[in-house]
Amino acid sequence: MTDITSQTDAALAAIAAAASLEALEAQRLETLGKKGWVSLALKTLGGMSPQERAAAAPAIQSARASIAAALDAKKAALEAAALEEQLARETIDLTLPAPAVPKGSVHPVSQVMDELAEIFADLGFAVATGPEIEDDWHNFTALNMDETHPARAMHDTFYFPDKTADGKDVLLRTHTSPVQIRAMLEQGAPIRIIAPGRVYRSDSDATHTPMFHQVEGLVVDKDIHLGHLKWTLETFFKAFFEREDIVLRLRPSYFPFTEPSVEVDVGYATEGGRRVVGGHGDAPGHAWMELGGSGMVNARVLEFAGLDPKQWQGFAFGLGIDRIAMLKYGMNDLRAFFDGDPRWLMHYGFSPFDQPTLSAGVGARA
Ligand code: PHE
Repeated sequence: MTDITSQTDAALAAIAAAASLEALEAQRLETLGKKGWVSLALKTLGGMSPQERAAAAPAIQSARASIAAALDAKKAALEAAALEEQLARETIDLTLPAPAVPKGSVHPVSQVMDELAEIFADLGFAVATGPEIEDDWHNFTALNMDETHPARAMHDTFYFPDKTADGKDVLLRTHTSPVQIRAMLEQGAPIRIIAPGRVYRSDSDATHTPMFHQVEGLVVDKDIHLGHLKWTLETFFKAFFEREDIVLRLRPSYFPFTEPSVEVDVGYATEGGRRVVGGHGDAPGHAWMELGGSGMVNARVLEFAGLDPKQWQGFAFGLGIDRIAMLKYGMNDLRAFFDGDPRWLMHYGFSPFDQPTLSAGVGARA
């Protein structure tokens, strides 16, 4: 009896003194391990008479319980201390000086997206987003292109082998227009959004890459007409190209999701082999260049998006971001945008500190 008490006291003291998880494990083996004295003492109970067992068992059981509890508590304490020590050891000194030569730069596409958001925010537009992996309802059907619509074939769509749970085709969105549908379904009307992002078409040459960037614009409100569209695009391009002599030409066109539809051309001149935006496209030495598509939102699209076309009208536009970036910053090969060549990025990239603001001029000073 006294023997067990003193042995237990000694074990508890040794456990308390254990300085490491290894030392603690040694204590566990000595007591509760297969050959530990507590385990051996428990085994002797089997050979005892019922009276002897009744007398001896409680002391052994309580020794085992107190030692097990002490081992658990000490283990938790040692592990917590080890974690603290590791956290202290792995701290990073954030006060270390930055490298003398800045590493990395902002890609022109990201820069232009920031500029777009800044200019359109000033006109009261919020930025909306949607998934790049879309279903064919949002990408086509709700945009007034049913299964048999020939415009579907023109989109050179990348399809996934799987379908959605409710049987829709899954694809990489071919334009940012599905964000129109998502935004109207989520927010209703009136609404004023732009949606910049990546789009995908199975198409590739010097002026087309399988992934490129668009910005969608959508305004739905009461009494909206084509004049609002033209003013909005003109105001945007003047701010974006930072010149007042921007002349737009709206050329009749066709998109299933707008009616009427117009393509947006901008006048430009060629100076020193470079296209410079500005001036009337029919003026001497000038020409027109297409920047995107637009039009009044088709009544059927409003219906698909849950809005009553008798009550609401809107305009929408889609512009190629890569193209307006090339025009503004003077690059001539679209493919370089996606090569990830650090030399190109150092040359055309922008400082992360050069945030576009309207007051300082949205253009980056390279
Ligand atoms: N989604 C069209 C395209 O990718 C552009 C567009 C957007 C046209 C909005 C009209 C209105 O070509």
